[in-house]
Amino acid sequence: MKQFPKEFVFGAATAAYQVEGAVGEDGRGPSIWDVFAHTTGKTHRGQTGDVACDQYHRYRDDILLLRELGFASYRFSIAWPRIFPTGSGRVNEAGVDYYLRLTEALLEQGIVPLATLYHWDLPLALGERGGWVNRDTASYFAEYAAVVMERLGDRIPRWITLNEPSVVAYAGHLLGEHAPGHHDIGEALRAAHHLLVGHAEAVEAMRAQAAKVEVGVTLNLSPVYPVDADPDNIAAATIYDGQLNRFFLDAVCRGEYPQDILAAYGLFADLSYIAQTDMNLLKRQSIDFLGVNYYFPNVVRKGAHPLLVEALPPDGPLTEMGWPIKPEGLHDLLLRIARDYPDIPLYITENGAAFTDTVQAGRVHDPARTDFLRRHLEACLDAIADGVDLRGYYVWSLLDNFEWTYGYSKRFGIVYVDYETQQRIPKDSALWLKQFMAAQTDRGVMNNERRTSRTGFHG
Ligand code: FCB
Repeated sequence: MKQFPKEFVFGAATAAYQVEGAVGEDGRGPSIWDVFAHTTGKTHRGQTGDVACDQYHRYRDDILLLRELGFASYRFSIAWPRIFPTGSGRVNEAGVDYYLRLTEALLEQGIVPLATLYHWDLPLALGERGGWVNRDTASYFAEYAAVVMERLGDRIPRWITLNEPSVVAYAGHLLGEHAPGHHDIGEALRAAHHLLVGHAEAVEAMRAQAAKVEVGVTLNLSPVYPVDADPDNIAAATIYDGQLNRFFLDAVCRGEYPQDILAAYGLFADLSYIAQTDMNLLKRQSIDFLGVNYYFPNVVRKGAHPLLVEALPPDGPLTEMGWPIKPEGLHDLLLRIARDYPDIPLYITENGAAFTDTVQAGRVHDPARTDFLRRHLEACLDAIADGVDLRGYYVWSLLDNFEWTYGYSKRFGIVYVDYETQQRIPKDSALWLKQFMAAQTDRGVMNNERRTSRTGFHG
């Protein structure tokens, strides 16, 4: 078996609204997702994140679970409305405290925290003023980032500003599937720009607070293949790749937008709000690493209009989400990023699959998920062998959790959650992963080494 480099980080990921629950506790303000999930017809059976996995109260047990499974790192997100209940102004100390306790508990177990600042739970007060469609939100985000960095920057070595700005922009403002549930292309494009500017403002503010931390951003990226060699289909794939991937990659890695995509968007939206000062800011802020969320690739052909692309229905075995299982897409993607955006260390910050899981005699047998993870990890190994600077892999997700629009109907966890009792049951895939990670060099010894060396950082 090929081996991961000694310093490779294996982690598990979650996000605040999907696991924490305790939405009304210790001064947390409402977020746009509270409102969206509580609006009739928006989520599966009207389910919400009110309780979720109750991690807010059970974080110590979940951290012991991480430790038991042998993870070196935990990716979690900080809920902006716990820190600033109305988005800005007064800091809610009880909210800061929660993340201090969580972080301390992780460090005590020798687990490196990786914190995301924005995993979609925008404070409602900012949502009511236009949310990401409003340029001011970018600056409020930087204010929040600076405060969190001031309080936690000495304990958390690696930070992600935004999770999947493209999903926030398009699922939230064009497709209406996510909060705030709008259907407006102009709004979606504005939101995309303001999210990216918010990222840049936040990076600047964070660096001013704690120069030593690493700051990156997580993008959802997906290879786009033309269905055949027809030049029109190739052009369609280029446009789709531009909207999905290049627009965001170019912004965070090069501080610019791709000209072909700007020209395309300019045909049906006014883009005059893209100020030169914003672009200068994006250009000044380089990232220390790029977080990649990979689930599946796309195959496309030309649509009725040069800008309209038709995605083909997926082939082959699918996950419970209806997503195709294509580990080779991850390999292609990593090589492409390394080629087009060189010299940026990469982390897979999410990869995983939902399947229907059932508990049988206290066990959850999920061979399809184990197979999925094994093949995607092999794709990572191949990419590393091909020269990609891939430094870590975080499985989505540690726990079954609130899967946004799908509520609790899709289980992505390697640990099963019984939502009635909040009992956690590591699935077979978790037990497999534990063995896999242990077999990769002598993980046990390595973790101990890391623990010792981290004491300096921590204390
Ligand atoms: C990603 C999200 C994450 C989870 C997975 C399945 O787009 O970042 O919160 O919902 O999809």
